[in-house]
Amino acid sequence: MRSVQRVFSLIAGATLASLMGLSAIAAETESSIARGGRLYDKYFGENKTAKPAADHPSYIKDGKYGKENSWRCKECHGWDYKGKDGAYAKGGHFTGIKGINGAAGKDPAAIAAVLRDKSHGYTEAQLTAKDAEDLANFVSKGQGTLAKYLDAANKSTGNVGKGEAYYNTMCAGCHGLDGKKVKDGPAIGSVADNGAEMMHKVLNGQPGEAMPAMRAIDHQISADIAAYLTKLPK
Ligand code: HEC
Ligand code: HEC
Repeated sequence: MRSVQRVFSLIAGATLASLMGLSAIAAETESSIARGGRLYDKYFGENKTAKPAADHPSYIKDGKYGKENSWRCKECHGWDYKGKDGAYAKGGHFTGIKGINGAAGKDPAAIAAVLRDKSHGYTEAQLTAKDAEDLANFVSKGQGTLAKYLDAANKSTGNVGKGEAYYNTMCAGCHGLDGKKVKDGPAIGSVADNGAEMMHKVLNGQPGEAMPAMRAIDHQISADIAAYLTKLPK
């Protein structure tokens, strides 16, 4: 009798949970993709592991951004995810390495395995299994937006006027109306011309900081904000 009651209450509990929409919570991946994006930006800023002291073995010889920076995914694969076929085709960030855009939509487990392979060699002490999973979710499912909202000159096509209202209400509390309030970072206006970097940071957040990630809401809002950032003082 007691076990029948228990089964009944389990069923009732499950029904209640699904009525309340709780079953959807387990399937949420946006936060994992956003965290993967922050790890892609600067993994040791996000997971607080030791900064590497020597150049990454796959990094270009005598490159300008060696040591710890050469281990950041973005340093080889770019803010636009296109590597040598994007903004890093020339200039100080050139490495000659291809982008991650070809891996969009691929099986996350296969992408996680790439991070342990010879071309990468990230150890468990640098990236845990959970870190690798978040990165793989980002690479597989998180790259879609940029081409839709950036023009050929890497500028956001978003609405500046709407972006101003979003910025002044959601970002200015920390960054100031002029983008200069965070003292240990650059003026936002001075880095805003890189549309791909701005979209990446607004969608995924800043590594290791309490800055929100906007990924779970309409990406047009992030594009509008990115468009407005270019109007802030340098
Ligand atoms: C020092 C340079 C470097 C860094 C840093 C780097 N990669 Fe790579 N990555 C490479 C090279 C080299 C390849 C292999 C390219 C090839 O096969 O032609 C590659 C390939 C890949 C691929 C496969 C792309 C495809 O089309 O199959 C993925 C996915 C990838 N990297 C993700 C990452 C992630 C995520 C990070 C950060 C945790 C990262 N990489 C950091 C150099 C780098
Ligand atoms: C809770 C406080 C907080 C909020 C809210 C916040 N940020 Fe940040 N943000 C930070 C901190 C702290 C940093 C790290 C310092 C730095 O590098 O400028 C940062 C860094 C950045 C950077 C990188 C600057 C760089 O190149 O290093 C950009 C871009 C940025 N924020 C844009 C925004 C935008 C746009 C919004 C609103 C959607 C926003 N932030 C909301 C705290 C915040």
